[in-house]
Amino acid sequence: SITRHYTFNIKLKNITRLCHTKSIVTVNGKFPGPRVVGREGDRLVVKVVNHVPYNISIHWHGIRQLRSGWADGPSYITQCPIQTGQTYVYNFTITGQRGTLFWHAHFSWLRATVYGPLIILPRRNESYPFVKPYKQVRILFEAVINQSLQTGAGPNVSDAYTFNGLPGPLYNCSVKDTYKLKVKPGKTYLLQWINAALNDELFFSVANHSFTVVEADAVYVKPFETNILMITPGQTTNVLLKTKSKAPNATFFMLARPYATGMGTFDNTTVAGILEYETSSLTGLKNRPLLKPVLPAINATNFVANFASKFRSLATTKFPANVPQKVDRKFFFTVGLGTNPCPKNQTCQGPNGTKFAAAMNNISFALPTTALLQSYFFSQPNGVYTTDFPAFPLHPFNYTGTPPNNTLVSNGTKLVRIPFDTSVEVVLQDTSIIGAESHPLHLHGYNFYVVGQGFGNFDPSNDPPKFNLVDPVERNTVGVPSGGWVAIRFMADNPGVWLMHCHFDVHFSWGLRMAWIVLDGKLPNQKLPPPPSDLPKC
Ligand code: C2O
Repeated sequence: SITRHYTFNIKLKNITRLCHTKSIVTVNGKFPGPRVVGREGDRLVVKVVNHVPYNISIHWHGIRQLRSGWADGPSYITQCPIQTGQTYVYNFTITGQRGTLFWHAHFSWLRATVYGPLIILPRRNESYPFVKPYKQVRILFEAVINQSLQTGAGPNVSDAYTFNGLPGPLYNCSVKDTYKLKVKPGKTYLLQWINAALNDELFFSVANHSFTVVEADAVYVKPFETNILMITPGQTTNVLLKTKSKAPNATFFMLARPYATGMGTFDNTTVAGILEYETSSLTGLKNRPLLKPVLPAINATNFVANFASKFRSLATTKFPANVPQKVDRKFFFTVGLGTNPCPKNQTCQGPNGTKFAAAMNNISFALPTTALLQSYFFSQPNGVYTTDFPAFPLHPFNYTGTPPNNTLVSNGTKLVRIPFDTSVEVVLQDTSIIGAESHPLHLHGYNFYVVGQGFGNFDPSNDPPKFNLVDPVERNTVGVPSGGWVAIRFMADNPGVWLMHCHFDVHFSWGLRMAWIVLDGKLPNQKLPPPPSDLPKC
């Protein structure tokens, strides 16, 4: 294992897409941002220097941060933001993970343009548990140049989705900004997919080709074949693409466009890239037909549920599934939208003139003005947070039935506090308040096992016996089905303060988030060390 050093200079850069030039926030002037790579067991040291007139912090999405919670990155949760002119060094070790993750800004809407791949290679003497890929290709889904602040139902429609920053030929004025994946016949490629979009789950497909899914959220899965992928914001997926044995006389479109069930339908445009076989013949590309894949309908919820159920852990001796078999603490969180009263002198876009909000167990989580991890570590919770986040909804109702009249949520900075090594089960139930909608829920500091999912209301007596406690998929982000629920389990073996939230930025901003305090254990190696001396102050 080695230590790898990176420097992230946060700076503005003019970027031209769709015939418009905008000044955007970048890392080192790159869009998408630079690739960070390490092997399992390596230490990463990333010095972040803020040269822009905004606050910022960087989150290493999916990294476990075992006893290094100070490096996790969400603003006002594990740190105060890095202010203009300031520097903070993120220092953490990659433990027990390999595959594709990503990093992104975790302040306001900055992750619209501040993100990049975080690739974890297997240890030097270890190989992949699947055929050695010919080549690794990184492809990111993301929303380009979308920094406008939200005024009503959501942030303004993004200008485009992109592959590695390129919107492709289906957008106006964008033919020259088309991502091209050049391949050779008869080879196997590893494609590393990252959905870095702000607010949309995305379908993806390549004409006349299929994939073998081999890894999700930096955990290997039992391989399965599919010709369509669905990836939620915050999820990452590695797939193998086996090219045709002979270069076909055609060029293939690769397309991505949203899966959306609720208010997220504000952008149903399509990004296109091109899969092209390299050829030595001079008859060239001109006469090749361009083939398009067929994607599911925008609201294809059954396809999505079926696709999600195909993901399984390897569950081998080498890569075991350590699913908690018994549960110490059970939680049931409703996940959905709601409203706040409209502040005076504002116009609000919510129902009956209210302001949109979002909540778990009817609590819309308010970010504090100082960082929770510091308040917790130095035992100064007073006025910053409370630990009375409810384990169950205070006023249960029929979550997937007729929506209740009262859509008001309450605001607060409420956390759940649990002892070290508690085994936790959380059922996440979508609600139909202001419409059923799929929500990608992300947990910081942990992977969890997705032990069950279903439509309708979760049934506490009939659903748990059907849980998969043998080979459930292990991930850090899961889609809570529109009009349904998922059940997750994890072992609370990482002390600190850990955010859990919807990875749609607009829902995050409306308060669809909460946080866990996991207490120190008794042994020295079960305690969170003190903060680094350069930890930013608020
Ligand atoms: Cu990728 Cu708190 O998020």
